[in-house]
Amino acid sequence: MSCFFVTGGSGFIGSAYIRFLISSTDHQVINIDKLTYASNLDSLEMVEKNPRYHFVQGDILDEKLLGELFKEFHPDYVVHLAAESHVDRSIQNSRNFIETNIIGTYNLLEISRKYWLSLGSKEKLKFKFHHISTDEVFGSLSSKGLFNEESPYNPSSPYSASKAGSDHLVRSWYKTYGLPILISNCSNNYGPYQFPEKLIPLTIMNAMEGKPITIYGDGKNVRDWIFVEDHVEAMYAVLTKCDIGSSYCIGGNSQKTNLEVVKEVCNILETILPRDINLQSSYHDLITFTKDRPGHDFRYAIDTSKIYDSLGWKPRETFKSGLEKTIKWYIDNTFWLENVNRETQKL
Ligand SMILES: NC(=O)c1ccc[n+]([C@@H]2O[C@H](COP(=O)([O-])OP(=O)(O)OC[C@H]3O[C@@H](n4cnc5c(N)ncnc54)[C@H](O)[C@@H]3O)[C@@H](O)[C@H]2O)c1
Repeated sequence: MSCFFVTGGSGFIGSAYIRFLISSTDHQVINIDKLTYASNLDSLEMVEKNPRYHFVQGDILDEKLLGELFKEFHPDYVVHLAAESHVDRSIQNSRNFIETNIIGTYNLLEISRKYWLSLGSKEKLKFKFHHISTDEVFGSLSSKGLFNEESPYNPSSPYSASKAGSDHLVRSWYKTYGLPILISNCSNNYGPYQFPEKLIPLTIMNAMEGKPITIYGDGKNVRDWIFVEDHVEAMYAVLTKCDIGSSYCIGGNSQKTNLEVVKEVCNILETILPRDINLQSSYHDLITFTKDRPGHDFRYAIDTSKIYDSLGWKPRETFKSGLEKTIKWYIDNTFWLENVNRETQKL
């Protein structure tokens, strides 16, 4: 049994990772989360009473608290997800992104380094710092080509620039100080418990409420999509099987235009939750287009050969099967959306 420090564990991917660790392993998990608007403790209801799970409300900018937690819990692994994660919000106000994503990562690295240096030789060999990052750090592709672990960094938005900055810091703590780190750069995640400001849950929520489904520009921007439960299995494989100092690109091999994504959501909803026939319109009629996002990257796509070949990991879900599971979850869990909406209105 190992002790995992998970930062940002009450967010979308962090909560999926913790549910996975508690249900599929015997590890102990310490979740350190500030509980920003993007978090939701309901996402961890199924683990909150488990004796192997412990929650601490805290900010990764709080050095004193982090130092105390390292002393108290003695982690074997740090899995760092805490971040401001929404591109549109980073365009409106980038300060939190610089503070949490860059300075927060710096704090965690420095405290991890001091802690690691204080460990005995066996524990020192075991310790790893896994930084969870995005494919957005590589910038935009044209209609051809794939990102891989050697792709140059070329971020476009304040969000992706702050994540690129944190990737560089993490790598430099390995090169300069020898801190045992791993980095994974993943494509767009979707699945249950995702805050409805991101494309897929926002589309599902608006469609279910009969509100306009708005798409940036002409909807031809392409993203690779991965079901969140596939991502967390890949994260665990990277942490437990990979050589320190390495990075891995993770993707779902599902490249779709935004318009294709929205149409697929509408198709699935038509089958499992048909609109009132008296309305004489389909979910597709709710689709509208708006002015493009500034600096909107055209295309992201991932070459997954390294993780496929070296770790034997492959996503279990196709885009269709993952999306069906996701939509059914949102239909069955409207209480979760209602709680989220109430929280958002407080902002
Ligand atoms: N969502 C994606 O498609 C995607 C893809 C690739 C990589 N990532 C990366 O994965 C990580 C998690 O993404 P997500 O979609 O789950 O994000 P999210 O916004 O759903 O969750 C982020 C969590 O971090 C917490 N947090 C924010 N600032 C904090 C701080 N200063 N101290 C402590 N906790 C803080 C929030 O409360 C929230 O629970 C991020 O680092 C993101 O960059 C996300």
